[in-house]
Order: sequence, then structure tokens, then C-alpha cells
Amino acid sequence: MRVTAPDIRARKGGEPIVCLTAYHAHTARLIDPHVDLLLVGDSLGMVMHGYESTVPVPLDLMIMHGSAVVRGSSHALVVVDMPFGSYEESPSQAFHNAARVMKETGCGAIKLEGGVRMAETIRYLVERGIPVMAHIGLTPQAVNVMGGYKTQGRARSEWQAIEADARAVEEAGAFSVVLEGMAELLAAKITREIAIPTIGIGASAECDGQILVLEDMLGLSPRVPKFVKTYAALGEAIEAAVRRYADEVRRRVFPDEAHTYRMRDEGRSAVDGGATKKPKMTGS
Ligand code: KIV
Repeated sequence: MRVTAPDIRARKGGEPIVCLTAYHAHTARLIDPHVDLLLVGDSLGMVMHGYESTVPVPLDLMIMHGSAVVRGSSHALVVVDMPFGSYEESPSQAFHNAARVMKETGCGAIKLEGGVRMAETIRYLVERGIPVMAHIGLTPQAVNVMGGYKTQGRARSEWQAIEADARAVEEAGAFSVVLEGMAELLAAKITREIAIPTIGIGASAECDGQILVLEDMLGLSPRVPKFVKTYAALGEAIEAAVRRYADEVRRRVFPDEAHTYRMRDEGRSAVDGGATKKPKMTGS
């Protein structure tokens, strides 16, 4: 049975909730047994498609990657990010697009950015059957307003507004909330104050769960923020493998005998000069 949004909601204050991003079926299959939640984050615009920010990501791209992750997984709750411009205009715009995401991907919930300003929309979606994960603190879709990716809550004067965001999304019915790029003391206070799980990314161990971008923690991203711990050096492993492949192709070492198809009767054809009946190719 797949993890559901209410299952995640019920984990408040319990064993930490393990989340990772996933963008395609093959990696989803590998990580699915080890995590509670797979987020098809709009970070895929930067990580997979080379955009400078998440702002240009289209809804259809999220749907394409979202359905791949659902196909590749069977255990974790799959949450798909609503991209910039697909939900902010009105609750009905958000419902129209979120319903498309749910129907066309088969995911179990959507995520959207914003606190107080998105509370009415969150309530509208939840009342109509769409589980919502909220996202406050550093909200990357607002990069052009914020003027960069700045850690939130490092000055006490910022706390009131961010705490109000947390309370607003909780009251509106979100089943959990991502706290991104946030000072530890504020993340701890919010985690104590609200009844839904907080999922931290650069928001300390005080949160109810953690999320990282998979490619960042695997060592595949060229630059990573301070809060990312890299658990593997896949970037280096890929480069080393490709260097070896290129060298073997250039020296005609690859493909070798083990990786080459032969005719079924190739030995005989060689003896009788190929005069035997026409052989069939085998394999794919
Ligand atoms: O898009 C994303 O990957 C995210 C995470 C950073 C939480 O929203």
C-alpha cells in the first residue's frame, strides 16, 4: 500500500519523515523503498533542463516527470510541484491545474509555494479533494522578488511574518509544510507551534522530516548549497566511466567478443564460404 497524505500528517512528532526529490522512473524505482515521500520538485527545471531558475518550468513538464515517477514507484507518497504561474491567479485556476496534475500523473498530492497569500487557495483545493503540501521560508519561485536565494529568519524581525505563514497553511488544511532555507531557531519554533509535520531543506534537524534534491546528495550537481551533504560522488564516477569508454572505443577494445552478436552458423559459413541457407539474426 502506498503512503498517503494523511499517513504523513499522522507522523507529526514521530520518527523523522524521509523525503527526496525524484524526476524519472528509474531513479524513483531505486529510492522508493527507502523513503516516505518522493517530491517531483520544479527544481527539475534547473537540475534536468538547464534553466537558471524554476520560473520557466511549464505545467506539462511537471506532468510528464510526475507520471514517470508514479510509474517507477509503488511505496512512497508522490507529490508533484505546481510550477510558477499555474496556481497563483485564483483558487479556481489552481484547482483546474492541480486536478490535471492529479488525474494525468496519478500522484497523491501537490505542493505549492506561499503562506498567508496562498491560504485561501490551499483551503479551496483541500475541500475539493486535493491534498496540499505547503512550502514557506525561502520560496524559489519568488527569486525575482527576493533578489536571490536568501536564508530566511536570521533576523528576529523576520520571524513574525514567517510564523504567520506557517499557521496560515496549517489552518487552511495543508497536510505538511516544507521549510526551506531557514534559521534553526525559527524552524524549531514553528515545528513546536504547528500540528502538521515540517519538512526541512536547509532548516536544521529540528524539523519533523528532511528533504534534499537527489542529484545534489548524490554528487551530480556542479554546485551545492551549504546545507547539502553529499552521500556519493556519482559525478566523478560518471566522468571516469565515460573517459574509459571513450578510450576503449578509440583503441577498438570495445565492443569485444562478449558484447558482439554472431551469426548462428557463423563457424560453418566461414568453412563453406557462406553457401549455407540464409541465417537469421537473434537477440534485440
Ligand atoms: O523543487 C524542489 O526540489 C523543492 C524542494 C527544494 C523542496 O521544492
